[in-house]
Amino acid sequence: MPGHKRPTLGDATRGRILFGGDYNPEQWPEETWHEDVRLMKAAGVNSVTLGVFSWAKLEPAPGAREFGWLDTLMDLMHTADVGVVLATPTASPPPWMGHLHPDTLPVDRDGRTEWWGGRQHFSHSSATYRRYAAAITEDLAARYGDHPALTMWHINNEYCTYDWSEQAAARFRDWLRERYGDLAALNEAWGTAFWSQGYGDWAEIHTPRHAHYMKNPGQVLDFKRFTSDMLLECYTAERDIVRRATPHLPVTTNFMPLWVGQDAWRWAEEEDVVSVDLYPDPRDPLGAQHGALVQDLTRSQARGPWMLMEQAAGPVNWRGVNHPKPHGLNRLWSLQAVARGADAVCYFQWRQSRQGAEKFHSAMVSHAGEEGRTYQEIKRLGADLARISAEVTGSHSAAEIAILHDWHAWWAGDQEGRLSHEVDHPAVLRAWHRALWEAGLATDFAHPEHDLTGYKLVVVPQLYAVTDTAIDNLLAHVHAGGALVAGFLTGVADADDRVRPGGMDARLRELFGIRTLHEWWPLDADERVETDGFRGTLWSEELEQTGDATVEAAYKGAELDGLPAVLRNGRAWYVSTLPEPDAFRTLLARIAADAGARPVLDGLPPGVEAVRRGELLFLLHHGRDPVTVRLPGAHHDLLTGTTFTDEVTLGRYGVAVLRP
Ligand code: GAL
Repeated sequence: MPGHKRPTLGDATRGRILFGGDYNPEQWPEETWHEDVRLMKAAGVNSVTLGVFSWAKLEPAPGAREFGWLDTLMDLMHTADVGVVLATPTASPPPWMGHLHPDTLPVDRDGRTEWWGGRQHFSHSSATYRRYAAAITEDLAARYGDHPALTMWHINNEYCTYDWSEQAAARFRDWLRERYGDLAALNEAWGTAFWSQGYGDWAEIHTPRHAHYMKNPGQVLDFKRFTSDMLLECYTAERDIVRRATPHLPVTTNFMPLWVGQDAWRWAEEEDVVSVDLYPDPRDPLGAQHGALVQDLTRSQARGPWMLMEQAAGPVNWRGVNHPKPHGLNRLWSLQAVARGADAVCYFQWRQSRQGAEKFHSAMVSHAGEEGRTYQEIKRLGADLARISAEVTGSHSAAEIAILHDWHAWWAGDQEGRLSHEVDHPAVLRAWHRALWEAGLATDFAHPEHDLTGYKLVVVPQLYAVTDTAIDNLLAHVHAGGALVAGFLTGVADADDRVRPGGMDARLRELFGIRTLHEWWPLDADERVETDGFRGTLWSEELEQTGDATVEAAYKGAELDGLPAVLRNGRAWYVSTLPEPDAFRTLLARIAADAGARPVLDGLPPGVEAVRRGELLFLLHHGRDPVTVRLPGAHHDLLTGTTFTDEVTLGRYGVAVLRP
């Protein structure tokens, strides 16, 4: 809407960190609702998400409406002073829809229909689905737009579906016409001269369904772009409806962390509030780092405070083995999210179900009820959040290092015919973030075409396909005095996934001081390559440097003996393998120090993480044995009300939120 000033998360928080979760009262009798309110109030819950999967309840037959139960709940929440994030229920259409309209059901790559009986069984390209989704959204907006409990809209839930159906194929052809204009351009972009794949008529083009042998990578890449765009159309259609009714209220949809199917940079531009669902495995020794990565990425997409829409208070039930969170871990990981910019700490879900597919998934109120450890810890967390809310909400944090990530580069590189299926894009990204995280360095994420001004160091774990604009951006960053470090398989292809002459863009080769990239030498899963400083994993390269570049580490022994493993050309560094974790931390810490980027706090004991948010310093202890942290001067801990003069001791999973 022209002139529309976009609302923000601050319009919903009004100075209180949002604390609560998905609330599915339709699974419970009405007396439980009153018990829920009592427990919510006791725990400091101030926000619930209603209606995420309520479509069949709201529209039990085509066009019917049953709002009475939701009216009661909205009123109940208002009386209790619990804000409502109202969801459109469009992630799980009622059974009647698929039964009456088979075109609303998605089809998998083998042509099999995905039936109702689970969830997310909607075809993003189905006009029928979209019509029903718009109608229920209109009616929800009309009925509840003025309700005083309403604080925010939540559209759908974790958009994540693919569709290879006939209706998706028709939309795919429209999308391709829009992108390429004519078939000649499409044939050129997809390189259809290879294997007799030239298209002579638009009608010949289908979604990349199951094929005898490797599919055309251009077609597959465009199908991924198309899928992200179609889902985004579904989102914006519903968003525009609620926005018309309530222009003053923010709208969001929840991302899955680092989900492959959505270009989340593009999506974030369409959201008033960026929100994410985060479920690190409590048994994963790197669970905290996984959380930190997702939090850094989400904050960067939001360019400010963001919403932790879902996490688990205890176990999930979708891993092979599902472990509970040990005492204190839920609090620690929640405060870690706040440290990294979250102004909302929410859960799936409020009360653990007794039936249905997720009855063994934890909730804020577990099967053990009020006396259960889970709820008791939730209560404690609610009190902690109340103590820090006023000084935390709305504040930003700055990082000196930007990690570049781009979904299109990921999609392009993830092709069937790549040289090594051991190279997994998110795993490479995690390894780079881990090295920086373990070195105590704060990181933002950025898109390769974003403005990089102000970052001392730009880190490129892997940008297989890279646009000319992005290359210009990287060169400009270095020419302006910034430092850059890139990993292998960067700059290989253009935006159409056409390999750039020389196997890496010539300007990038010049920047890094690479004269010739002779061959890529991928490594097997358990294979290591020696260098004179460390051992490399996953990948190695047969490179020849230019005269200006210095070899910071060289391969040792075997075929690549003496050739550069790490190259430096002024402020630009190139790392042609993935060093083992300790060595990688040391290397990136050195590169960061050289670039003038400082750790958040020097001299931290192992396992302690320091994060700055605004004026506040968060100390997060990821271990179980007490540790003492030396402080740069006296600090006041908002959680305990204690002033520490020069050091603070943190117990098991301990946290301090310190104001200087
Ligand atoms: C999310 C989803 C929730 C719930 C949760 C369980 O993916 O949005 O509805 O299923 O996972 O972990």
